[in-house]
Amino acid sequence: MSTATTLPVEASATSTTPRILDGVAIAAEIKAEVGLEVAALARQGICPGLAVILVGHVAASEIYVRSKVKTCHELGIYSEMLTPPDTITTEEMLDLVASLNARDDIDGILIQLPLPKHVDTRRLLGAVLPDKDVDGFHPVNAGRLQTGQPALAPCTPAGIMEILRRSNIPVAGQNAVVIGRSNIVGKPTALMLLNASATVTVCHRHSKEIIPFTRRADILIAAAGRPGLITREMIKPGAVLIDVGINRISDEAEMKALFGDDPARAATFAKRGSVVAGDIHPDACQLSSAYTPVPGGVGALTIAMLMQNTVTAARLRRGLPPSAHPDMV
Ligand code: GUN
Repeated sequence: MSTATTLPVEASATSTTPRILDGVAIAAEIKAEVGLEVAALARQGICPGLAVILVGHVAASEIYVRSKVKTCHELGIYSEMLTPPDTITTEEMLDLVASLNARDDIDGILIQLPLPKHVDTRRLLGAVLPDKDVDGFHPVNAGRLQTGQPALAPCTPAGIMEILRRSNIPVAGQNAVVIGRSNIVGKPTALMLLNASATVTVCHRHSKEIIPFTRRADILIAAAGRPGLITREMIKPGAVLIDVGINRISDEAEMKALFGDDPARAATFAKRGSVVAGDIHPDACQLSSAYTPVPGGVGALTIAMLMQNTVTAARLRRGLPPSAHPDMV
């Protein structure tokens, strides 16, 4: 993916201060709604249950999984964390998934990725019952999403759509450009934007040039995992910028190149020895009409949407209508 072409920034650049799309506040709103749904289900004697499987010792995965279990606890969702030994085989994992599929108290099954290399990830994701697939990774749910049918949708893309919806950002008819084509974020995000009637372009590492596309984007979603990839000259002034990148920077020169003399980042770096940076350069954000910060943007939504999916799965498994989840209607 080449970003070599440098074009002048349009003279019509907006001079208004961009709106910060506060993912933490939106996630809190969603979690409060999910908490109310859980309470309503409890009055009918129903308690949604989530099983989370974690294999191996990827530090980020351990943090995410702890956070998922903690949020379940806060919202009154039953949760179980399963940590089989690193030596577990694919067959043993398949048995574990089958036992969770068969349990009535478990509505959602989440296999934290990445799995160790010796385990067949594709087979495992395909073994989760589609109706318990709260990650939305099963091919049946991917197919439902692709054909515009109600589906348990992947959490980060669903979170992006919630940010846009709850911030009253129009999607229909807009030029939306997605950078990155992963099964977890890029592809499902592109499909959801398409289902919402945007004109969608997906760029990726083999795209010859991305600037002609990014500069036409009314909504730009960056999910490439490359810090500061999207620079000021790559965007249309006034665009909405959604940053999915969570890149840890532990090199001070790289931190300074991205954030200049930003005192808050410098203080974080001095305290922790690293900072987190998104895929969108801070200078580009200043040219937008609205942007999601990193941290505190899209990342905050992923767990909230997982909670929402768990409640939706619990309702659907009992023949109740799905809750007010826009990707389910
Ligand atoms: N690893 C990184 N993101 C995710 C996610 O959304 N779900 C799971 N299961 N694993 C992940």
